[in-house]
Parts: sequence; structure tokens; C-alpha cells
Amino acid sequence: QDDQFKKVISHAKEYGYVFQSSEIYDGLSAVYDYAQNGAELKKNIRDYWWKAMVQMHENIVGIDAAIFMHPTTWKASGHVDAFNDPLIDNKDSKKRYRADVLIEDYCAKIETKIDKEVAKAAKRFGDAFNKEEFLSTNGRVLGYQEKINTTLSRMAKSLENEDLADVKALIEELEIADPLTGSKNWTDVKQFNLMFGTKLGASADSAMDLYLRPETAQGIFVNFLNVQKTGRMKIPFGIAQTGKAFRNEIVARQFIFRMREFEQMEMQFFIKPGTQQKWYEHWKETRLKWHLSLGMGEENYRFHDHEKLAHYADAAADIEFKFPFGFKELEGIHSRTDFDLKAHEEYSGKKLQYFDHEDNASYTPYVLETSIGLDRMFLAVFSNSLQEEALENGTTRTVLKLPSVLAPVKAAILPLVKKDGLPDVARKIVEDLKWDFNVIYDEKDAVGRRYRRQDANGTPFCITVDHDTLEDNMVTIRHRDTMEQQRVKIEDLREIIKQEVDV
Ligand code: GAP
Repeated sequence: QDDQFKKVISHAKEYGYVFQSSEIYDGLSAVYDYAQNGAELKKNIRDYWWKAMVQMHENIVGIDAAIFMHPTTWKASGHVDAFNDPLIDNKDSKKRYRADVLIEDYCAKIETKIDKEVAKAAKRFGDAFNKEEFLSTNGRVLGYQEKINTTLSRMAKSLENEDLADVKALIEELEIADPLTGSKNWTDVKQFNLMFGTKLGASADSAMDLYLRPETAQGIFVNFLNVQKTGRMKIPFGIAQTGKAFRNEIVARQFIFRMREFEQMEMQFFIKPGTQQKWYEHWKETRLKWHLSLGMGEENYRFHDHEKLAHYADAAADIEFKFPFGFKELEGIHSRTDFDLKAHEEYSGKKLQYFDHEDNASYTPYVLETSIGLDRMFLAVFSNSLQEEALENGTTRTVLKLPSVLAPVKAAILPLVKKDGLPDVARKIVEDLKWDFNVIYDEKDAVGRRYRRQDANGTPFCITVDHDTLEDNMVTIRHRDTMEQQRVKIEDLREIIKQEVDV
């Protein structure tokens, strides 16, 4: 697993997808830059989301709110008071950890024990093994499960009640050790706010304290009535947005999975109070379908229903994806009630209500939110696509099997040799196709090596111009995933590519 993840990170660098930010100065922790291919892949994911959410829904519109917002926004949203992580330091190593992550990691270790028991039993009983039955009857497994359940629910309760002493007691009772040094010498747990502060204005006394937004959602809430009125939107309707968000994350690890500057793609769906259960189910299902439409394997997704809810939610679930380091949150679906709109009404003194003509009554809408991290989606797509295949001739090929619709470059046009007029024909094909697709021209190295380079780059098609092309106006098109080659007419190329890369 670790090896696979290391390969993902080095491939992302080697092929111009993701670089460490300010690398020449030794980088900045948990901040990354998207390179020439990465920027394209990221844009394509964003577009794929935007098309599904905005273009395909008559009742969803998109906006682009500013990163800076009036500071009272964050008081109203609860972020000033409640957007905290519980932190604990190890006195010996002086390392800082998120207390809940330490506890969750501990539970994950017990889960591994359960998996081992299951694997052992499966081996012993062979075909007769029934996993469900084993899990519900095996004493040892039940004991492990009970331990996980009580640990997590005690942690959730302590955090909800802000009983940080109990979180510390739990860590000590479970004898959780510093993951790096093994030391069990812990400090008290403290809350730490994750928002980045900055200032607006030049002079010291008139400058206003601001925060960089920790979520894009609030830009939608404060614009709710403006959009509803100017767009003449009728409930139920949605407002979508993509954009940067900033969090001073403590556990900044796992590459672009958890960053300090990242991008979110969020949609707030405004509904009539009392209909939230129906819409919650609807959006869970709709969002999972969107993920499955990319063909990255149904078995790589699962729902995780939250027991511990954020301060604004009455129900919440994550869509988890199987990253190289295990199943982790990719997207959240939250039933946010009228928490945010009511809070903004209270703090701004402005009514944020909707007049329902059918009911002849005004109300504060409830909100169903779908929220996905663009960078996290990038990591899901990239890590799932990177594969090493053993070929019949005994060699291996590294291939990035990106969904074609997301691939940065759709086709590489390759003259077989750099002479006899082949480059001119290849260039002409590039000139023609570039109006519709991101295509590149490549004449360097033997054609076999060029194929491999494009495989590793994730390019779905290679189009080769050879001497016969001069006679018959046909080229060889090679498919990245199957390595199959076909002879096709130049005039048919556009349609062939379109068929595969269009949504
Ligand atoms: N508006 C709700 C909200 O922000 P969240 O669960 O805190 O909810 C939503 O974040 C999504 O944003 C997550 O599912 C994840 O994909 C992404 N995300 C959150 N923090 C992130 C970080 N530090 N780095 C990268 N992505 C992050």
C-alpha cells in the first residue's frame, strides 16, 4: 500500500501533474502546485462536476463568490466558535497530533485485527465460509467490534460535550502511543481553530481582521436571496460553486488528500422544511451515481453515515473512496437544516426568507449540501488510474488509465519518422483536431517509446502517420487501455475521439 502510494506521488511529479509548492525553497508543508498536466486534469474534473450539477439541472445555477467575506460571516456560521480540532502534544517528542485522529487510528488497527480473523477463517473453512455469519457469531471478533464502537462513541460524546479531559483519559486508558516514537507521555487536549486570519486595509488601526474562507458554502448562503430573486428561482433549487478554501490543518499528510489550501466543489440545495429526508436520500444516490459514471469500480466506493454530526447538520454521510491508504472521505452530503440562513438572519438583521406562492406563506428554507474536495477527487482519479501491467513479452508497462473524459491530453499525433513529409501531415491533423480537443504533436524517439510515454501520461489515443498515409489518407489509431491498433480515415478521427471523450 505504502509502495503504491509512493509510486502515485512520484509519478505525479515525473509526468507534470503535481509539484511541491515552492520546491526550490524546500517546499511548504501541505501546499502543492498543479503542473501542466495536473492543471488540465483538475480543470476537466471541475468541468465534469459543473456540467453534471449546473448544466444538467434546470433548477441549479452556479456562482463564483469572493474568498474574502465579511468577518461576521464566520461568527454566524459557527466557524469562529466551533471550527476547531482537538490537539494533543506528546511531551517527549514535542509532536502535535489531532486527538480524534489518534483514537481513530487506534480503532483502525483493531479493524485490521478483525480482517485478519476473517481471512484466517475464510482459509480454514473454504467454500463453506460465510462472512456475515462469522462476523455476527465469532466471540473474539464481536469483542473487537464492541471495543471499536464504545471507543468511538465515547470519543464522539466527549468531543460534543467539549469534555477534553475525557478525550485525554481515553487516550491514556487505551495506552495509545506516539506513532513516531512510541512514547505515551501526553499533554492535555486543547482546541485549535483552523481558520487562517489576515487583514484588510493599509493602516494598522483601521485594518479589519479577516479570515480566508474555510469552506465555499458561506458565499452561497449570503447570496441566497440575491440569486433567488434575480434568477426567479423556485424552491427546490440549488446554487453551486467551485473555489479555493483554506484550513490550517494540523494533520497535514497524505499528499494532496489533506491540504492547507485546497479547492471545493459545493452545491447548496434549498428545500421546504420537512422534506430534508427525501432530498438527503436523493442527493446521496445522485452523487454516488456521478462517481460511478466515471467507471472507476463500484467496489471502491462506500457510504459512511456520521454518528458525530457537525454543528450545523441533522444528518450527514460521506462517500468514501478506496485511496491507496484505505477507504477515506471523498465527498460529504449534509442535511444542514435552516442553521446557516437563520444564523445569517440573526447576525445581519436581514430576512432571508422565501415566499412560497403555492402555500401562500414565507419560510426559511432548509438546505441539503453536497461538498467534494476537487484535489481529493484528483487524488482518487489519479491513484485509481495508475497501473502496472505485465505484458506478454515479459516486460511491464506503466499506464495511467484515466477516464478519457478527464484525460489532460486526448490524443498524441506521431509521425512515424521525421522526414518524407510525414511531420507535415501530422501537424495538419493537430491543427484540425485542436479546435475540439487538447492534442499534442510528438516526433521525438522511436514510436514504441512514444507510445509508452503517452500511456504513462494518460493519453487515451495515439495517432500515427506513416508512409501509407501519403497514399491512402489513413492513419493508425492506438487505444491506450487495450493497446489495440486500427487503421482509420483521417476524416473520421474527430468522430472516433469524440465518441470516447465526450460525456
Ligand atoms: N461545506 C461543508 C464542508 O466544508 P467538509 O467535510 O469540511 O464540509 C468537504 O469538507 C469536502 O472538502 C471533504 O469531503 C473533502 O473532500 C474536502 N476537504 C476538506 N478539507 C480538506 C483539506 N484540508 N484538503 C483537501 N480537501 C479537503
